[in-house]
Amino acid sequence: MTENVLDTRSEDDDKPKKQIRLGIAGLGTVGCGLLAVLKKNGDLIANRSGCEFTIGAVTARDRQRKREVDISAYHWCDNPVDLADPDKVDVVVELIGGSDGPALALARAALGKGLSFVTANKAMIAHHGAELASLAERTGASLRFEAAVAGGIPIVKTIKEGLAANRIDRMHGILNGTGNYILTMMEETGESFENALAKAQALGYAEADPSFDIDGVDTAHKIAILTSLAFGTPPTMDDLPIEGIRNISDIDIAYAKDLGFRIKLLGISRLTKEGKLDQRVHASMVEASEALAKVSGASNAIEAHGDFVGPCMIEGLGAGAGPTASAVMADLIELARGNTGSTFSLPASKLAPLPLLESGERTGEFYVRLRVSDKTGVMADIASALRDEGVSVERLIQRTRASDDSVHLIMTTHKTSESRMACVLERFSDLSSVLEKPCMLRIEPI
Ligand SMILES: NC(=O)c1ccc[n+]([C@@H]2O[C@H](COP(=O)([O-])OP(=O)(O)OC[C@H]3O[C@@H](n4cnc5c(N)ncnc54)[C@H](OP(=O)(O)O)[C@@H]3O)[C@@H](O)[C@H]2O)c1
Repeated sequence: MTENVLDTRSEDDDKPKKQIRLGIAGLGTVGCGLLAVLKKNGDLIANRSGCEFTIGAVTARDRQRKREVDISAYHWCDNPVDLADPDKVDVVVELIGGSDGPALALARAALGKGLSFVTANKAMIAHHGAELASLAERTGASLRFEAAVAGGIPIVKTIKEGLAANRIDRMHGILNGTGNYILTMMEETGESFENALAKAQALGYAEADPSFDIDGVDTAHKIAILTSLAFGTPPTMDDLPIEGIRNISDIDIAYAKDLGFRIKLLGISRLTKEGKLDQRVHASMVEASEALAKVSGASNAIEAHGDFVGPCMIEGLGAGAGPTASAVMADLIELARGNTGSTFSLPASKLAPLPLLESGERTGEFYVRLRVSDKTGVMADIASALRDEGVSVERLIQRTRASDDSVHLIMTTHKTSESRMACVLERFSDLSSVLEKPCMLRIEPI
């Protein structure tokens, strides 16, 4: 165990006595954002934390690359793992990204040497959080990751500290700004998914390879971490059902609006009354009057339900240099203040998996859209499939398409199980009058 170099209390209130030397790995969007926060708000941060943060060493892939901040005065390490040097740095800040590779090697090296470690890396925490938390606790280091979930929104601290007295039974949230921006554009302008994605890329909201954002993987990383914090499980991506928004069409966005819903990509984690974990990521129909439905553009929002606090929602910017660096800095200030509790809400040795709710067991209401031939007998076939599988319809609307002689049948169901719904969809698909794969979306009670 190393000496606690993070004890910064000073007898002289005006001047911080202690320095914390940061080792910053990754000088991209967030890394440069962190240097900008330190430059602009260094005095305020020193006053609030009782500590002066200095740069002990930095690393990135390409030393010669032109950056938004001048790094020429900082000690440079070619190999990220070399940042884990207690002679040069007190805290390592990892802003490279990726679940494995140099980020994980650096985390293991730093925590192994008892150096506290701050990261914005959701993929690494979702996949290796339990291992790293155990290592941190063994060596007396602190592992913090506020920026890994919803960027600037302090949701990790909220669940871990603010709501620590509550049994949380449900959390759901918009955890990916790119996805939310695309869905908002589609709703506001009637654009196709492809056009909205291209716009998001042009504005820098979406990466050149946007697959983690639009396929729900990024949301899944974040909900896996929140599940761990709220329910005391080791974070894991195993058996986490993930559906993205690639297949959401402008047609369904428009029908959702007509029915009083908005389509949102949600990360959902809840505990059933029987103590089973129901964790999933998918596009959901949310009542348009709900606060979560009104979260638009690149914003994120998370709502947690605690048994004493009730519903508690936080909204803000989930990405970008400023918001993300703000969250990284918040972790560093907490370390400076001596807040070095367990990594998740429980000590790593007490994290335990929960039995999982099988996806077929889940019950809820559903939206289904069918494109069918406009001829007699079709409704009878549809009704038979619903009757045989025991699924009752709440609303059924027929819309004629201008472009051909097919029609859209749009229905919402009463509460039923996913397994029954899967049988109904199979029956629909087998009908010759159903002209394309049925579109099904879950109506999520918020
Ligand atoms: N951007 C956001 O809004 C945001 C929000 C929340 C969380 N995060 C997380 O923050 C982390 C950083 O994201 P970012 O957007 O700042 O990424 P980024 O702009 O792509 O920057 C990544 C940095 O890591 C460096 N790097 C890449 N591979 C490396 C390697 N093998 N060895 C050493 N350095 C390497 C790059 O070096 P070069 O500059 O030399 O290429 C670059 O400086 C990720 O975990 C991300 O998920 C980002």
